[in-house]
Amino acid sequence: MSERIRYGADYNPEQWPRDVWDEDVRLMMQARVDLVTVGVFSWAQLEPAEGRFAFDGLRDVLDHLSRAGIGVNLATPTAAPPAWLSARYPDVLPVDRTGVRYSYGSRQSICICSPTYREKAAAIVARLAAEVGDHEAIEMWHVHNEYACHVPYCYCDHHARAFRQWLVQRYGSLDAINEAWGTMFWSQTYTDLDQVLPPRLTAAVANPALELDYKRFCSDAFLEEFLEERAILKAARPELPLTTNFMGLYKPLDYFRWAAHVDVVSTDNYTDPATPEWQMRSAMDYDLVRGLNKKVPWMVMEQATTRVNWRPHNVPKGPGFMRAMSYQAIARGASGVLFFQWRASRAGAEMFHSAMVSHAGTASPVWSEATALGKELAGLEGLVSAPVEAKVAIVLSWPNWWAVESPTQPAGDLSVVEQLLWVYRPLYEAGVTVDFCSPDERLDRYEAVLVPSLYLLSGQQAANLVSYVEAGGTALVSFWSGIVDEHDAVYLGPYGGPLRPLMGCDVLDVAPMPVGETLEFQWDSGESGVGDFWADVLAERDGQVVARVTRGALSGRPIVVETTYGSGRAYYVGCRLGPDALAQLFARVPALRGQASVAQRGSGVERVVRVGEDARYEFLINHSAEEREIEVAARGLELLTGVELGSFVSLKPAGVAIIRHAMT
Ligand code: GLA
Repeated sequence: MSERIRYGADYNPEQWPRDVWDEDVRLMMQARVDLVTVGVFSWAQLEPAEGRFAFDGLRDVLDHLSRAGIGVNLATPTAAPPAWLSARYPDVLPVDRTGVRYSYGSRQSICICSPTYREKAAAIVARLAAEVGDHEAIEMWHVHNEYACHVPYCYCDHHARAFRQWLVQRYGSLDAINEAWGTMFWSQTYTDLDQVLPPRLTAAVANPALELDYKRFCSDAFLEEFLEERAILKAARPELPLTTNFMGLYKPLDYFRWAAHVDVVSTDNYTDPATPEWQMRSAMDYDLVRGLNKKVPWMVMEQATTRVNWRPHNVPKGPGFMRAMSYQAIARGASGVLFFQWRASRAGAEMFHSAMVSHAGTASPVWSEATALGKELAGLEGLVSAPVEAKVAIVLSWPNWWAVESPTQPAGDLSVVEQLLWVYRPLYEAGVTVDFCSPDERLDRYEAVLVPSLYLLSGQQAANLVSYVEAGGTALVSFWSGIVDEHDAVYLGPYGGPLRPLMGCDVLDVAPMPVGETLEFQWDSGESGVGDFWADVLAERDGQVVARVTRGALSGRPIVVETTYGSGRAYYVGCRLGPDALAQLFARVPALRGQASVAQRGSGVERVVRVGEDARYEFLINHSAEEREIEVAARGLELLTGVELGSFVSLKPAGVAIIRHAMT
């Protein structure tokens, strides 16, 4: 990938007559578009009938773009199988939990385990690579589109068979499966592998360990198909970077497993501008995506210029926010920002989705914003190779997410995303940038690691966290962590299992709180605090009690405990601390405090720093509706205006500043 921040969109010219293509290319050059995703939904054009291929149209599009110097991110079309395929081979269609087969007539109606689908998908990908793979316009491979979007789980017989094979590979024998799933309870013992089924509709809840393994399996099944397509494309053009577009915090796919297989992590971001914390949610998605594979670049593959069309009520981002939110991504490390889509469709499922060229054409304000942004980005240099500075990590694991939101839990309303937001929110507001990490990663580069409700983890993952602290790190572990092993079986004894060295107390039981009630406690400083949602029943052990419950059944018991382990420290938090209490706890840990110079705290101004070889780039983005005067870290050159700044910068609503501080 070049040093330039890539700019562009999904380009679907098959919807338009040929003369529109000429205008498209002219306008793309005007907007300084330099990368477009082509072919995402073109299977029906490329293979109009089984085994009959037609690549002239695509070749023409590629020639057209290449003459204008516009790079192509060439997609495989496998996310939208053609009608002839589904009509002729209904087993390519997915089946829901109740046994109903989906119909075709949309996109992504796919059974990823269907041998027919796999064969036909591999064939069109191979043909695509053979017919146009060597075209000079192609700069990147884009595999499929948003794997598992719309239908993440299929429960058909193909899936049942593939699930059994996956289980045999994982466990070796039926006895081991029975053992891992605890099937002695509720008379669920399997005596033949063929009795094992996907978790289809049953009378009561399915075995949670089976549900968990089914989620693992489905994520892996999509991954297996992705790897098949990847192998074909890599064989054709090994030097081209390859990606598939993720969807940020998307529950059904374990993106930590996926991201190891891409050269560029890419994501689609459609955070709803109608929701109060949309900029923070978006920032959190970007921090997550950046952390999925820390060795490769990442980019925004899709975002809306203004609004989507698939929510019941589709509020636009508002003037200036196409730009501000694109800079948010760049501040958080993105090497490119693309949109869905280039030109708004005249017909079809997404005709009212915003685009770079809207129905009103270049007269629309969207066009002015899109061209202005393109020109500005074309002038920015030095950022792509400057990593984001993050000294704090939040630990996230997909299997934990799947297991902890099971309906068999003490609090079925414990939401992983809410738990992440609980600790992310105050850090975002204090200008503390966070990396998301898997519990398998080495964490020693972080000054503090936050572990919100990591209910499920293996002994090895726990050892990783414990040794991070032992070597001098600081961890903050919240309630409902260290409860079960990788098979969703409880670590017996006081809760916490292999994480107990970081707890300093014994978790004897748990007490989810009545909705609306608070837990009152007193800090060791004498100040009072409140929490809610959950209360652990804690008994003192070897740690130091930092806060103690003052009212109710748990009165006198610890609720926040500090412990030293090796040369590090850990805090265990037995309830969901309220915002003030959480701030008080964070104040004890230097890395979580934020910077005193960040005068923008609470002002709606986002601050992120990227660090290049010879300069630090301080990004400030005003998400508020008011003009803001912001104190900056040090003197420097503001790159978007070219003005040398003193100690303050003034930002209008949606205003952005990128201040380059040369390193001396
Ligand atoms: C997803 C898809 C795109 C488009 C957009 C619309 O991201 O990948 O094809 O449907 O949503 O928001």
